[in-house]
Amino acid sequence: MYHHGNKVIDEQRQGEALILTHEGKKKLYIESYGCQMNFSDSEIVASILSKEGFATTKNPEEADLVLLNTCSIREKAEQTVRNRLSHFHAIKKQNPDIKIGVLGCMAERIKEKLLEEEKLVDIVVGPDAYRDLPKLIKEAEDGRKAVNVLLSKEETYGDVNPVRLGGNGVTAFISIMRGCDNMCTFCVVPFTRGRERSRNPQSIIDEAKILQDAGYKEITLLGQNVDSYLWYGGGLKKDFAKASEIAKASAVRFAQLLRQVAEAVPEMRIRFSTSNPQDMTEDVLHTIAAYNNICKYIHLPVQSGSTRILKAMNRGHNREQYIELIDKIRKIIPDCGLSHDMITGFPGETEEDHQDTLSLMEYVKYDFGYMFKYSERPGTYAARHFKDDVPNEVKTRRLTEIIDLQQKHSLYRNQQHIGKIEEVLVEGVSKKSNEHWFGRNTQNTVVVFPKENVKPGDFVKVKILECTSATLLGQIVH
Ligand code: SAH
Ligand code: F3S
Repeated sequence: MYHHGNKVIDEQRQGEALILTHEGKKKLYIESYGCQMNFSDSEIVASILSKEGFATTKNPEEADLVLLNTCSIREKAEQTVRNRLSHFHAIKKQNPDIKIGVLGCMAERIKEKLLEEEKLVDIVVGPDAYRDLPKLIKEAEDGRKAVNVLLSKEETYGDVNPVRLGGNGVTAFISIMRGCDNMCTFCVVPFTRGRERSRNPQSIIDEAKILQDAGYKEITLLGQNVDSYLWYGGGLKKDFAKASEIAKASAVRFAQLLRQVAEAVPEMRIRFSTSNPQDMTEDVLHTIAAYNNICKYIHLPVQSGSTRILKAMNRGHNREQYIELIDKIRKIIPDCGLSHDMITGFPGETEEDHQDTLSLMEYVKYDFGYMFKYSERPGTYAARHFKDDVPNEVKTRRLTEIIDLQQKHSLYRNQQHIGKIEEVLVEGVSKKSNEHWFGRNTQNTVVVFPKENVKPGDFVKVKILECTSATLLGQIVH
């Protein structure tokens, strides 16, 4: 799997413990797996539980409550969580009073059965039921197993101010919508996160202002499908047609939300993820181009370069439409950073389809990408109707080919930055050297440079001198 910087999906960023310790309180240990939304949700959970007297700890052995916020996107992601759970047997033996909860997509997908399969688990809670955690924890403390996997039409946690945990104090996530209605045939997300609903723009702006006042410099607006954002007073996106004429007329879509946020916090950099090609409109592109503080970077998953496979995946676009969108982006936002998600070995994928994927990548030359082998997920349309018929060796070989090609393109794109002076937001110490900071340019590429007299949270001008396929190396200019 190819990855870039610390923008990571699924297996790449597993089990980061969140830290916030206070003496004399009940102790919560929480680990997050999977997408950025899960990391953001864990901050909501920590906020809900802090009101119940829980402080977080980085040491599971001293915890009263252990929560794993889980991912179901591929089989491997679930296996990772199960392996991790088995590790807690020893801890529970030592401290039988410790309660163990599974949150997130695995809880939603497997439901009560998880209690039978993993005997040490006390609590199972789906992504829309975190407000119920205090009650569920009490049930568990009384010796009963507790489950809530109800999906909601309304829940956006809009009024919960997340406890910022384990972060760098510079960049933060803000959830703007939940769920996904797209029903890509391979994807478990619509089943685990329910139907699309959006959060009140005012509560999003309020959260951005709180972050700005706390010294944050960059926010990422999060949703499974941000271009589909639609606020019309609350409720499911699919019920919009039934809304009143007044509600319809005053509805806020993603481009407007971006504009409102960009204007409300002009000193903040703004990013967003994830965009879906079929839902991305041209006014979003014009908005990105029009505001200096909206980063020139779009993560635009495509999944395959073959129209035949895209159709079987129920993606709402074909190869040509995707290319048209790429051309529009290049025209409206010159120098826009672009990344993708790609799946190899979807049922029925032939060598010719695979060549279509390689040639699409060759056309776009993405800055980076996240690439995966197809993993059949129980209950999805693809699992019910298609045979997982591409042999594992073939999936692996195709995956290696697209990863190699992406590496080449990443190097090519990075080389284009050499000699330029770019604005970088300092995020922290470089992983490889204590003498260097790392940060990102607007395109989301990691830039590493000697420390000098600046600190995390500063915007600096860096002259790019050299690069690898993953990183730009430079020097601050004054
Ligand atoms: N809209 C989402 C996509 C979630 S899944 C977002 O916010 O990122 C992230 C990526 O995982 C998808 O784009 C897809 O490339 C990959 N993926 C999803 N289901 C998969 C499966 N069954 N097998 C392999 N990869 C999958
Ligand atoms: Fe999954 Fe497709 Fe939605 S990949 S999250 S169903 S856009």
